[in-house]
Amino acid sequence: MIDSAAKRTAICYYSKHHGNTRKVVEAMALEGDADLIDITAAPAVHLEGYERIGFASGIYGFETHPSVGRFLEEHLPEGKKVFFVYTYGLWKGAGVKALAKLAGEKGSLLLGEYGCRGYDTFGPFRLVGGTAKGHPDEQDLAGARAFYRGLQGK
Ligand SMILES: Cc1cc2nc3c(=O)[nH]c(=O)nc-3n(C[C@H](O)[C@H](O)[C@H](O)COP(=O)(O)O)c2cc1C
Repeated sequence: MIDSAAKRTAICYYSKHHGNTRKVVEAMALEGDADLIDITAAPAVHLEGYERIGFASGIYGFETHPSVGRFLEEHLPEGKKVFFVYTYGLWKGAGVKALAKLAGEKGSLLLGEYGCRGYDTFGPFRLVGGTAKGHPDEQDLAGARAFYRGLQGK
């Protein structure tokens, strides 16, 4: 059970292809003040005690993973400050649009989103050694840290 936060930020993430999104949220957590919640491993969570809640996912078929939306619907309390993080190979499609809509329906205050490319060997890309090789790279992670620091005053 992940419960009532000594820390003020929780980031709930789904990262299965190459762990790209996990690398990004880990970089954010190293800045301090964040609990990382792997939504595929956390059977019971309670997010009420957190001030800010992030939702993070790779992009799969031009959308975030459906389990992230379901997790948000189930666990996000009303009226929280919310932000989004995503990684994508080449075409992010709708990105976090659907998540933002779901969060909006819960009266969330949307703080922003951070996205960067992530190594992708899905489908035809596998045949050519993948796309976005080496991503997220140092620059991507520096961008993630800067985004996260920017959330602290919000
Ligand atoms: C099943 C599947 C579908 C994907 N669909 C897209 C897509 O529509 N657009 C895109 O830019 N990348 C797509 N990708 C690449 C991932 O978004 C990218 O590799 C991402 O960084 C994966 O994050 P993860 O390692 O945290 O799971 C797809 C990857 C997989 C495995």
